[in-house]
Amino acid sequence: MKNFSFQNSVKIVFGKNQISQLPTLIEEGKKVMVLYGGGSIKRNGIYDQVMDSLKNYEVIEFSGIEPNPVYETLMRAVEIIRNEKVDFLLAVGGGSVLDGTKFISAAVNFKGYTWDIMAKNAPLTEPTLPIGTVLTLPATGSEMNANFVVTNKDTQEKLGMNKPEVLPQFSILDPQAMFSLPERQISNGIVDTFIHTTEQYLTYPDAGYLQDRQAEGILQTLVEIGPKYLENKTDYDLASNFMWCATNALNGLIGVGVPQDWVTHMIGHELTAYYGVDHGQSLAIVLPGVLELKRVEKAGKIIQYAERVWGITEGTEDEKIDAAIQKTIDFFESLQVKTRLSDYGIDGSRFQDIKNRFVRRGLTGIGERGTFTPDDIVKVLELRK
Ligand code: NZQ
Ligand code: ZN
Repeated sequence: MKNFSFQNSVKIVFGKNQISQLPTLIEEGKKVMVLYGGGSIKRNGIYDQVMDSLKNYEVIEFSGIEPNPVYETLMRAVEIIRNEKVDFLLAVGGGSVLDGTKFISAAVNFKGYTWDIMAKNAPLTEPTLPIGTVLTLPATGSEMNANFVVTNKDTQEKLGMNKPEVLPQFSILDPQAMFSLPERQISNGIVDTFIHTTEQYLTYPDAGYLQDRQAEGILQTLVEIGPKYLENKTDYDLASNFMWCATNALNGLIGVGVPQDWVTHMIGHELTAYYGVDHGQSLAIVLPGVLELKRVEKAGKIIQYAERVWGITEGTEDEKIDAAIQKTIDFFESLQVKTRLSDYGIDGSRFQDIKNRFVRRGLTGIGERGTFTPDDIVKVLELRK
């Protein structure tokens, strides 16, 4: 196991009707901006619960943070906050609203060109605004991590960042908020959670025995409950287990001390930036290609995955790898998430553009061993046509 240091200070408040805890979580007298997306929270009653809980605070709203939050939209919120002297940000929604709010928090007092926070990893030397979240879509883990992903429409870029300064102070996870989710978002969320886990697990064996078992626990739980939850969208126990899986897959814990990959996410973000496919869909396309292309380098872990997650104990090592990749594809397809580029009408015309972006950014050796090349990106995409 590698050396590591780990800190995660997010207070998780989990369970039924916990939105009512807001007054115990936000200091009295704060001016709160409630940020949300396209209006799902108005239709499912979450908005009313939040506003009711904040009735003793001065509150302003910012709505319209879109899926794959857009830089220009977020900068509109930054302007309002600068004028209105807001001192607390409450993000209510899925990963896009949470990520967008983190960017806003970082940008409000930032001196300089704000896109540099994403494009150049510019340091946050000025204070960020404190954040709390009410999660309505389990998937990204954004409720308990310091990551945020923002899209720039002008440059067609979708870039991710990690800044400890924007870690939420608290996150409220009421699984009942999920009951209004459309099937497509549930499926996307299950796939995203699954692939956050594989990014930290399907690498090479490095004696992270506990981390391996934790990752396998998340994967097995998703395989067990995912399809059932799609059939029973208001089952509280299934919802709460899925929600907690999503948080645990990307709050840092399963990734400590072990190698990490993240190639599937890096390529997936390009597919979203160029073609607008959902984040979960992009990952379902790419992961099988990465496993196929790197089947020799990843053999140790793919075979362990085959045996422990899928119960594949028969056959040669190659046959186990084949079967594990096929089981993974079948699982995504069983959730109604298509796994080929052609399923989304995407051809090979931009493969070279995607490759060239990685070259320009200096990302010429990525993945757990730093050996995944820009040419490998094209090979993966060719495999997934
Ligand atoms: O905008 P509203 O009206 O709220 O509707 C949303 C949106 O249309 C809807 N929705 C959310 N909760 C709902 C609901 N509809 C009904 N009932 C509810 N309870 O779902 C749609 C998608 O929401 P979005 O927030 O975009 O989904 P998700 O949580 O999957 O977030 C995706 C974004 O997170 C980034 C992705 O790249 C993408 O931009 N990621 C963030 C990560 C992180 N912070 O660690 C890691 C991930 O790998 C990922 O990259
Ligand atoms: Zn993801």
